[in-house]
Amino acid sequence: LEKYPFKRYADYIEYPLDEMKKKAADFYAHMKRRRTIREFSDREVPREIIENCIRAAGTSPSGANMQPWHFVVVSDPDTKRKIREAAEEVERDFYTRRAPDYWLEDLAPLGTDENKPYLEIAPYVIVIFTERYSVDDEGSRQNHYYLAESVGIATGMLITALHTAGLATLTHTPHPMAFLRDLLGRPKTNVPYMVLVAGYPADDVRVPDIGKKSLDEIADFI
Ligand SMILES: Cc1cc2nc3c(=O)[nH]c(=O)nc-3n(C[C@H](O)[C@H](O)[C@H](O)COP(=O)(O)O)c2cc1C
Repeated sequence: LEKYPFKRYADYIEYPLDEMKKKAADFYAHMKRRRTIREFSDREVPREIIENCIRAAGTSPSGANMQPWHFVVVSDPDTKRKIREAAEEVERDFYTRRAPDYWLEDLAPLGTDENKPYLEIAPYVIVIFTERYSVDDEGSRQNHYYLAESVGIATGMLITALHTAGLATLTHTPHPMAFLRDLLGRPKTNVPYMVLVAGYPADDVRVPDIGKKSLDEIADFI
């Protein structure tokens, strides 16, 4: 018996080249339609959809497969209100006192400010935590590796899954966001990483008219 079992990778699918090209082009077209929105509808979204999106995020690669992430899905109105109040407090301090001018200038085209009504309006506020290490039942500590890289990839997959399901998202990073650990009762091994607001867009939602760098600008083929 193998000490560390392997199995045949039966899930891999090779597509004919034409289909592969179409899939890549279609996926790019699909991803290009994703935008961060800042006005949400309060329309309900079945929890099953969020569950599957998080399952998808949980398939992400991670350093030594430690899966150093934890997702707290908040739909409870009272908890959402508390998150909004605490986020607005740190953000008010950020926008009025702590943010250097150059940062505020970079944020200006996005029209953001310290008001975060969407944290209460949207049906889901998903708080993503990095788990620095885990502790097993005997109390021994298991290290986790490449935390930011791993949780960043999982978060990207979650955003992609939600977009693919037909929901809109907002990546929100209240600064600082340590308050989220206490507010959500997470252990001290958990460090808040990002807040992902998810739901339907508000009617006639508008987004900043900004673009993306071209392939030439972001890639070299050598
Ligand atoms: C790490 C990260 C942090 C962000 N933090 C905030 C935030 O706190 N508030 C906000 O309104 N948008 C935030 N955003 C959204 C960005 O402003 C947005 O992704 C960017 O302007 C590009 O727009 P797009 O997502 O529509 O392509 C954040 C995005 C990322 C990736």
